[in-house]
Amino acid sequence: MTANNMSRPVLVFDSGIGGLTVLREARVLMPERGFIYVADDAGFPYGGWEEQALTSRILSLFEKLLSDYRPEICIIACNTAFTLAGAALREKFPEMTFVGTVPAIKPAAERTRSGLVSVLATPGTVKRAYTRDLIQSFATQCHVRLVGSENLARMAEAYIRGESLSDDDIRSEIAPCFVEMDGKKTDIVVLACTHYPFMANLFRRLAPWPVDWLDPAEAIARQARRKVPLVDGVDHPEDFDFAVFTSGNPDFATRRLMQGFGLSTN
Ligand code: DGL
Repeated sequence: MTANNMSRPVLVFDSGIGGLTVLREARVLMPERGFIYVADDAGFPYGGWEEQALTSRILSLFEKLLSDYRPEICIIACNTAFTLAGAALREKFPEMTFVGTVPAIKPAAERTRSGLVSVLATPGTVKRAYTRDLIQSFATQCHVRLVGSENLARMAEAYIRGESLSDDDIRSEIAPCFVEMDGKKTDIVVLACTHYPFMANLFRRLAPWPVDWLDPAEAIARQARRKVPLVDGVDHPEDFDFAVFTSGNPDFATRRLMQGFGLSTN
């Protein structure tokens, strides 16, 4: 498939299907644009990768993606990828606009009333210098608990493909987010992996007490819209939107899921 449209497409990238939580918001705000969704499923999950190897992988993937699809803008809908390789991507491809996804620590710090905030992310994202810097810059007045989950991204993939998950398994993944200290309780949990908003209803049901689950998808989409102004008279290219899987071989459930999002598959 080629990207020969009047307006160049928006490329949305994630390690798996989590970036769809961002794509669905971006579509609403950028209705005139064609979308290419790229899932590096051959590299999934990104959470446990060694940092240098993952950076090289992402940079070489983008070398090819940018030349194959010539997008106008790339949304890196993956905290694990962007907190690691965002700066390197911008440096290597200075002519491209990259909109990133980083843990929503700043808005959480502004909104919390108890001062207890948790960040639920992959093990990669919680150990990033980028994440520590966000806390240092915006949340020193808060108590921030970083929770790196080994399993949730995989569980979210299974769930969204229609498999059922055990309540106890989910409870034990989210339990460390709930902190009680000096008579106060965590009141905000930042969903710092784009896979997790798919499970927000389960989290709400299984949480020991109600909290605000912060999903940055809409803010990321707004940022992308700001970078790519609406061009008058340009319509969404017909039958354009498609998904690319680096494995070249998404399973049946994944193809169905993509179809549900209006994306054809390779
Ligand atoms: N969706 C990705 C994120 O936002 C991570 C999933 C993974 O590959 O572990 O961090």
